[in-house]
Amino acid sequence: MGAEHAVASPFTLASSVKLRNGAQMPRLGFGVFQSTNAKASTAHALTMGYRHIDSARYYHNEEEVCAAVQKFSGGNLPNEGTGKVWLTTKVMGQEHGTDQTNKAVDESVAIAKKYGLTWDLFLLHDPTAGKQKRLEAWKVLIEKRDQGLIKSIGVSNFGVKHLEQIKEAGLETPEVNQIELHPFLQQRDIVEYCEKEGIVVEAYCPILRGKRFDDPTLVELSKKHSVTVPQILIRWSLQKGFVPLPKSDTPGRIQANADLWDFELDEGDMQQMEKLDEGYAVSWNPVNVE
Ligand SMILES: NC(=O)c1ccc[n+]([C@@H]2O[C@H](COP(=O)([O-])OP(=O)(O)OC[C@H]3O[C@@H](n4cnc5c(N)ncnc54)[C@H](OP(=O)(O)O)[C@@H]3O)[C@@H](O)[C@H]2O)c1
Repeated sequence: MGAEHAVASPFTLASSVKLRNGAQMPRLGFGVFQSTNAKASTAHALTMGYRHIDSARYYHNEEEVCAAVQKFSGGNLPNEGTGKVWLTTKVMGQEHGTDQTNKAVDESVAIAKKYGLTWDLFLLHDPTAGKQKRLEAWKVLIEKRDQGLIKSIGVSNFGVKHLEQIKEAGLETPEVNQIELHPFLQQRDIVEYCEKEGIVVEAYCPILRGKRFDDPTLVELSKKHSVTVPQILIRWSLQKGFVPLPKSDTPGRIQANADLWDFELDEGDMQQMEKLDEGYAVSWNPVNVE
């Protein structure tokens, strides 16, 4: 990401990145996909200091996440600034198209409202609906944002072609693109495009669901810095300027994944990790669909 998004070291759980619209999004997020108890895990993450939760309509846990945030804050968390919890959700491709997206967003807005909350970031979950429905869905997000029903808007799993189509249609570009991103899948074309356009890149599957914890380079770096491999991976993501969204339902891991502030990867470490790219996706990565 461009220098304006680069991590100033040292940075902390309170560090944030500024979106084009001025909103401050916390740099470390907490994922809840396939969470077996999203309410308890979110509550634990909040206690550990995370201030950014990544949900989706597809995950069927928007309500649990909102309930945990409301309970944690006792209704007293500030709406802006330090201490505020950043809440993201997403509308899936099957719900794209003017009418369907309108209905879906209204449903999610109502869930948050029930808990006294507003979604900070609403994403199109994926580009799979095809160009027409995708653009219709994007227009709905713009309208909902303009009506003040949601705060910031973005996309997920969008390739350069999908992002370009938004521009060609004369519409404003997303604030955020959330993609699968880790050393083994660096998606450089999308990252470069987003940097150029001022689109903040969020990294999903930042620890590859545990798939490459035995990689020799990562093991060596974890020994060098006396930290775990997932900590190396999340720190890499932060130092690249991304917004990583590690998920865990395990209290000890939730804590460890946010304990990243006492070490720093040096240039040589970063260069070694740069070489690990092999286009390996652990999730669905639909960035090339029509
Ligand atoms: N936009 C999209 O299409 C999309 C797709 C996928 C993911 N996402 C988002 O990104 C988030 C993260 O992705 P993800 O959940 O797929 O994968 P991930 O965060 O890379 O990995 C999560 C897995 O790793 C385990 N884990 C977590 N911390 C660990 C640690 N310190 N040591 C060992 N194992 C650990 C977790 O187990 P336990 O939970 O059992 O601890 C879980 O099985 C999701 O939750 C979601 O919010 C978005």
